Amino acid sequence: PPATAGTTDAGTIDPLPALADLADQHGARFHVDASYGGPLLFSDTHRTALTGLTRAHTVTLDLHKLGWQPVAAGLLAVPAPATLTPLAHQADYLNADDDTEAGLPDLLGRSLRTTRRPDILKIAVTLKALGRQGLGDLVDRTLAAARTFADLVDAHPRYELHSQPTLTTVLFRPIGADDTALAAIRRSLLIEGHAVLGRATTPTGLWLKATLLNPHTQPGDLTHLLKLVEGHTPR
Ligand SMILES: Cc1ncc(COP(=O)(O)O)c(C=O)c1O
Repeated sequence: PPATAGTTDAGTIDPLPALADLADQHGARFHVDASYGGPLLFSDTHRTALTGLTRAHTVTLDLHKLGWQPVAAGLLAVPAPATLTPLAHQADYLNADDDTEAGLPDLLGRSLRTTRRPDILKIAVTLKALGRQGLGDLVDRTLAAARTFADLVDAHPRYELHSQPTLTTVLFRPIGADDTALAAIRRSLLIEGHAVLGRATTPTGLWLKATLLNPHTQPGDLTHLLKLVEGHTPR
């Protein structure tokens, strides 16, 4: 399996240097799914959380999360163009060499997919408009919002925090609530149009999951969110 830099459940980052060593020892290819955590590279403050990523043979990134793109915005990063040689596979029904030689644009060989939207355009525009630092600033703010929310939960006598967030996912739950109560909280907030909370199962059971992705979230929004949850927490 690949290493994950930003798991979907808890937003944690696997120990990349140790996994890179393991892959080396076994002569295995080392792929990192950095769909969620990859954009920490934009941040001067948080980039070190991805130490070891450069040892990957391939990395996937999904900028619909911490890159603020509409779906689809997935990227496969490879260390050298030669890695993509299999994409040059020729098929008569797809490739017209004479047209390519005559100067017609040919996007085959540039993607794993044949039929695709120009996903790269919006990503390129965002990078041009905000730059690496601009995106890094959004990453920093969003991670700070998650830490603020985790602190609010931790300080609240009725709630427990699963762990300090690594990225922007905060797992929490009312102390003593069973799975049915957690489901009721999530569904009520969704149906009322107040909040979309996810859920995650860990070795310590089921948790509510707040995945914060809005860099403009203010501490007051987070206090409000916890109050809304409280309003649906059985006494
Ligand atoms: C860690 C991780 N990998 C992969 C994916 C899925 O990527 P895709 O939607 O491109 O299949 C997700 C969710 O979008 C994810 O959180």
